[in-house]
Amino acid sequence: MGKSDSTTRIRDCDSESRKRANFTSSGKDLVRQCNLAFVHDTIGLWTNDTRQLKCDWVELAGTSIHHTIQMLEDAKALRTGSQRGFIGVDKDRERIAQLRLKHPDLQWLAGDLRHHISWLCTHAKVGVLNFDGYMEIGTRDTGATFTTFRPLVRRGISLFGSFVLLATNDLTSVVRHPRSAHRGQPEVALRMHTEMIIEKLGGYADRRSLPEFDELLPPDFVDKIKDPRFSGPLGAYRIYTGGTGNKLGHRMITLGLRL
Ligand SMILES: C[S@@+](CC[C@H](N)C(=O)[O-])C[C@H]1O[C@@H](n2cnc3c(N)ncnc32)[C@H](O)[C@@H]1O
Repeated sequence: MGKSDSTTRIRDCDSESRKRANFTSSGKDLVRQCNLAFVHDTIGLWTNDTRQLKCDWVELAGTSIHHTIQMLEDAKALRTGSQRGFIGVDKDRERIAQLRLKHPDLQWLAGDLRHHISWLCTHAKVGVLNFDGYMEIGTRDTGATFTTFRPLVRRGISLFGSFVLLATNDLTSVVRHPRSAHRGQPEVALRMHTEMIIEKLGGYADRRSLPEFDELLPPDFVDKIKDPRFSGPLGAYRIYTGGTGNKLGHRMITLGLRL
């Protein structure tokens, strides 16, 4: 999908929002904009005439989901009517109850996303999954978690020809956590993590094969992921530091894949 008039509503993640994120303590906004730009450039997920999402966008909610909702509203990406195309999910039932009251026009699911896959396959048309639960990167349960998403990806590809997976994980815990299997070696954890996701979710799109890990990153990626000052797009990833002001949080890494 090339640039079009509506693209002006969706910021280029390499320019304006990148500058902004570098001057704020949190780069999460940059990542949100990058995610939207990535989804925007994915063939099959948008209506040709209104340039709205044809598919449903599923995302973990948390306490800051209003930023994503606002971004999607600003971009006029959501549909009008009863099926607006956004489904928020959170294990925290109270949070979902509050979000349901605040945004009754959107869909909300309480409980573990992994337990909602069959419902989503039957009642929704998911083309985007933003799984930003901030789990440590490259842990053993990564494979099991992403295996549960297979039916969702398969259905999305059968409906739209494409499926976008966005996954945000915690890089810092790999570096610091004494029990981490890859302590001090985020690049090893990142490779394992990515290869596991590609192995579990690849293979549905018969029109092309998924990239290898080495094709997803520039050659100097190890320096960049270890440099606490670096934030921004890095190949198929975006990196940012959580937290605000003097309270900088963990470094997070978001992978964007077209499956
Ligand atoms: C970082 S927040 C999401 C942020 C939000 N997407 C945004 O852009 O502001 C992560 C949330 O996901 C929830 N969560 C983590 N794993 C989950 C799972 N498997 N199913 C449902 N909710 C989950 C956590 O309870 C937490 O509130």
